[in-house]
Amino acid sequence: MFKWANLFSRNEIERDIFSPNGRIRCHFSLNNGNISYSVYRGDQTLIRPSRLGFLICGEDPLGQNLKLIREQKHRHEETIELPWGEDRFISNNYNETAFYLTEKKQPSRIFTLRFRVFDSGVAFRYEIPPQPKFSQITIQDEITEFNVDLNTVAWQIPAYQPDRYEYNYEKTPVYDLEKSVHTPLTLRTPNGFYLSIHEAALYNYGSMTVKLNERRALSTDITPLSDHTKAHVLLPFQTPWRLIMIANSAIELTTNRLIYALNDPPAEDFSWVKPLKFIGIWWAMYVGEWTWAPGERHGATTGHAHEYIDAAIRLGVSGLLIEGWNEGWEGNWLENGIHNKFTVATSDFDLPAVARYAEQNGIELVGHHETVGFVDNYEEQLEDAYNYYAANHVHYIKTGYAGSMMLIHGRREYHHSQVGVNHYQKTVELAAKKHICLDIHEPIKGTGIERTWPNLLSREGARGQEYEGGALSPSHACYLPYTRLLSGGMDYTSGILDLTNSVKRISTTLARQLAYFVTIYSGMQMAADRPFIYEERFPKEFNFIHDVPVNFAKTLPLAGEIGEYYVVARQDRDSADWFIAGVTDESSRHVHINLDFLDNGVYAADLYCDSDDAHYRENPFGTDISHRKVGRSDSLDIYMAPGGGFAIRLQRLT
Ligand code: NOJ
Repeated sequence: MFKWANLFSRNEIERDIFSPNGRIRCHFSLNNGNISYSVYRGDQTLIRPSRLGFLICGEDPLGQNLKLIREQKHRHEETIELPWGEDRFISNNYNETAFYLTEKKQPSRIFTLRFRVFDSGVAFRYEIPPQPKFSQITIQDEITEFNVDLNTVAWQIPAYQPDRYEYNYEKTPVYDLEKSVHTPLTLRTPNGFYLSIHEAALYNYGSMTVKLNERRALSTDITPLSDHTKAHVLLPFQTPWRLIMIANSAIELTTNRLIYALNDPPAEDFSWVKPLKFIGIWWAMYVGEWTWAPGERHGATTGHAHEYIDAAIRLGVSGLLIEGWNEGWEGNWLENGIHNKFTVATSDFDLPAVARYAEQNGIELVGHHETVGFVDNYEEQLEDAYNYYAANHVHYIKTGYAGSMMLIHGRREYHHSQVGVNHYQKTVELAAKKHICLDIHEPIKGTGIERTWPNLLSREGARGQEYEGGALSPSHACYLPYTRLLSGGMDYTSGILDLTNSVKRISTTLARQLAYFVTIYSGMQMAADRPFIYEERFPKEFNFIHDVPVNFAKTLPLAGEIGEYYVVARQDRDSADWFIAGVTDESSRHVHINLDFLDNGVYAADLYCDSDDAHYRENPFGTDISHRKVGRSDSLDIYMAPGGGFAIRLQRLT
């Protein structure tokens, strides 16, 4: 029998977009005026039909009652060369379809939904052009779903918490994700695929967190502003890319570079940007030897700075960070940040003299701006503060936003809200103008914008080693490569070798501290301990920290499981040398590494491994250093102790 209902409920548009290798399929559907998408790998469902659209303040929702005006397809094949990072070349190959949509009835607003389907993921974004009576809008909410099976497993950190992204990762079934969690959100589907939901090119918008919505579908929860809306935007506006990374295994996921492919190339010359290895007037404050604030034990004095510059020269490290150099650290600095002055040094610190001494000796100073989240105070001084450093030939600044919220325009806002995102961007762009590179602590998460702004050399954005002394377990650094590091490099402050310090006891073995220089990439890589620890106690171990580069040509993920272990090989960008490293959780582990990725040459291998009796608690210093010659037909059997790891340099002999 003919049913009238069929006439009205028929599918109007159904389209498949395949990845270049044909294995990933994104399905777009326009059904009864509503849009949705789903994602498949062969005959396996990864994302079930998922809703799309927006709630707009004072207007009808955008994304309903739609018809297709036109669609445009594009096949893109490109190899991108990145100026620095984990891989020199990444591919940007995809099939794109843009769906140009309009409402069937007045006001007939229009927007575009653009999909890109890659061999390793699917991305899409909304693009809204300016139109009559629709040129300035307030987004109340975005309704983008990532409707995975509820039995999918998630590795998550909670959103909207006082310590921003600095939490331990937890494994939670999606059906339990009632509260919002940050992205990248790494998932394992019941059919065994590994996904990570994230976003790329986050500009002028609240950052995406995700949670289960009222339909029990995983869905965007855009970080709100203090006025409870999500974003105020002028049209044209495009959202960040909504990205689903796809891999067959956890280890394969770790080299997904789609966030960079989805960002634009730089608009100007950034050849002045150079990744940096640095030491710092820093850990001495954490272990209570020095203070940030002026006084008897003040760290950032002219004298200490000169001593550290001399140490950097002896150690062969090119940079020096100096924290606590400016006015504003007195008393409880976490509460008094409103008084910070970014152009006024303390009376015992002569910045021009220190900067001159550093420059004469070829050492790059890393300046420091701790805003404590008082963004209004910082923005008032921003131009002067960057000019002050630039005038003193300081080309790197570490910025910080400690505190649970930011004070922006007199209001308390989330770091990862639209106004927070815009503030961070302002600093990146101003720094670029002054030829300054940034390492942002308490940052906005990475969304690949360093492709466009290569002067953004690093970020923190997860628990780093300053949480040692009780709040870091050995598994933490075994989660990072599969979670946080999918959003780009991290300043983890590696290389703390004074493991049994009574103020800050470190829960790793010594070899594992060396491993971090390879397992946790950062364009600004800190050798975080005090120089005397390297020079007097561990000169042999320090050789690895000296030798390991901060810029790689190629990264090969070798083995690992989320939160358990991770083994990776990386080739130096400036030589034929390889660096291999691994980290493990509380369990000891043997790994077998086949060296067949090497070329035909002979390599001198320096191995820094846990000794048989090493243990992160009982015997953290147990390290075996050995040397041998290897080639591509060899393999290595490496032991990692509980809480341990290893680091290997393979130097190609000519
Ligand atoms: C937190 C940062 O992560 C840390 O590196 C810095 O030393 C302090 N804030 C003080 O700025």
